[in-house]
Amino acid sequence: MPSTRFTAVPEGVYPAPVHAPYKSTRLRGPLQAALRIAAPAASAAIEIPPSAVTPLEADLTAHGEGTPLGEKIVVAGRVIDEDGRPITRSLIEVWQCNSAGRYFHSKDQHDAPLDPNFFGFGKFLTDGDGRYRFVTIKPAAYPWGNHANAWRPAHIHFSLFGNVYAQRLVTQMYFPGDPLHTLDPIFNSVADARARESLIARFSIEDSVGDVMLGYTFDIVLRGRASTPFIP
Ligand SMILES: [Fe+2]
Repeated sequence: MPSTRFTAVPEGVYPAPVHAPYKSTRLRGPLQAALRIAAPAASAAIEIPPSAVTPLEADLTAHGEGTPLGEKIVVAGRVIDEDGRPITRSLIEVWQCNSAGRYFHSKDQHDAPLDPNFFGFGKFLTDGDGRYRFVTIKPAAYPWGNHANAWRPAHIHFSLFGNVYAQRLVTQMYFPGDPLHTLDPIFNSVADARARESLIARFSIEDSVGDVMLGYTFDIVLRGRASTPFIP
């Protein structure tokens, strides 16, 4: 049964709409307090037909004529709600840059090579126990012009639909041991240290696959006490 009542997300977990060190939020962040509205649709169930995704879409390395460059990895995890119940058969979308730090997108004009075998988009469903798994290439850091020497730590964008609309989450997954974490205004827009840590995947030898790829675990909590931070 999807949750229909939610605990408020604690202070410091979701970033403030305007976080001055993250330059573009100064222009786009709303300056007035949000209005509370009645939104019965927030608890309406989201049902995704299994036909919405194909197994190939969970392998971001399988869409070119050849093998993408870079380190092949597998990312796996479990999506639960604030009471620890699995978020089942829910849609997850991921997007990321390639192993040289460039997105397959016309707006990305970073002077790094595109990879003709890597487009950086994937989608898949959680299973009956809330688990998901996808195969990709480890993304690289890239410069983003926010300030002098501004480089984003390597990350994968996640969009989760949950089982009801109120569980919608857009966030970013980071990699352990990256020296750029402490310098990144987006990562640090999450004020709560424990919440920030929850954005960093764990290296997982159990999820690694023989001579093929290393594994990372990234568990996600939708809404409430232990909620994963919302990073637009
Ligand atoms: Fe990004």
